[in-house]
Amino acid sequence: MNHQFGRLITITICQRKGGVGKSTATLNLSCVFAGMGYRILIVDLDDQANTSSSISNHLRGTHTIEDLLLNDSISLQEAAIRTDWDNVWMIPASRNLSGVIKHLDSEVGGHLVLKEKLAGTEFDFCFIDNSPSLNMLTINSLTAADYAFLPLSSKYFSLHGLGQTLEAFGKVQKRINPALLLAGIGFVIHDRRTALSNEVIEKVRDKYPGILFETIIGLNIKIEEASVKKQSILTYAPEDRGAEQYRQLGTELLSRIRACEDRKAEVSYGKEVVR
Ligand SMILES: Nc1ncnc2c1ncn2[C@@H]1O[C@H](COP(=O)(O)OP(=O)(O)OP(=O)(O)O)[C@@H](O)[C@H]1O
Ligand SMILES: [Mg+2]
Repeated sequence: MNHQFGRLITITICQRKGGVGKSTATLNLSCVFAGMGYRILIVDLDDQANTSSSISNHLRGTHTIEDLLLNDSISLQEAAIRTDWDNVWMIPASRNLSGVIKHLDSEVGGHLVLKEKLAGTEFDFCFIDNSPSLNMLTINSLTAADYAFLPLSSKYFSLHGLGQTLEAFGKVQKRINPALLLAGIGFVIHDRRTALSNEVIEKVRDKYPGILFETIIGLNIKIEEASVKKQSILTYAPEDRGAEQYRQLGTELLSRIRACEDRKAEVSYGKEVVR
């Protein structure tokens, strides 16, 4: 089976702040891409395991991310579990990843293990969910990724981690993974009724022009309900505004990726890049 983009494209969803919508964005964007016909792998690198448990209760008894990262003999193909969601496979998290972090910290090239595991797999896209901490697992995800998507909530305190996230992104790009690109910053929980939230969005738009996604996902109880019901908003309430916004955000993300991939292809064919 061929990759639709000629290779696996890996997107890490990270932000050095809890509760900003990382896991929810991972699930819903994966589902939007899966709905477009792409084969999706979700990797859950957060030992809160919110993403894994929002897909299914039945992912236990199989390999977890811990098994995959600690054992050379387990391949990603073996560890990936087909979920009940069409076109979506998953490597679930385990409840305590501190042992894995310790192991990777002391391993030569420990930051490269996830990248090695992803090589040669047949998915079109891999979405990686991260914990809010910055640890060796986050570094593994930035090292393995082609693109980083940085979700934010428009609550003022949500901005606190953004500087650190961008700093980590910059260091990995400079020192380890020069091919890593910033797909963009996306507000995925926005309460438009409060003036402060609207100010937060304007502040980010001014500071990072062109990086912020146009689509903003509103605060929406249906999105939260969908996770509780082990569904994406697209299947739980396909006609809801939240589903429409996630479809729009996914389309925007895909078109940014497509534009970057086309530019890379032009460079590799020796054509001049027109910006
Ligand atoms: N647009 C939205 N509207 C309302 N609730 C949302 C929305 N997006 C996410 N949520 C809810 O907000 C909470 C936090 O979201 P989520 O778990 O995705 O954040 P996170 O960044 O992954 O958190 P953590 O850092 O703890 O892993 C969850 O209860 C989720 O269902
Ligand atoms: Mg999470």
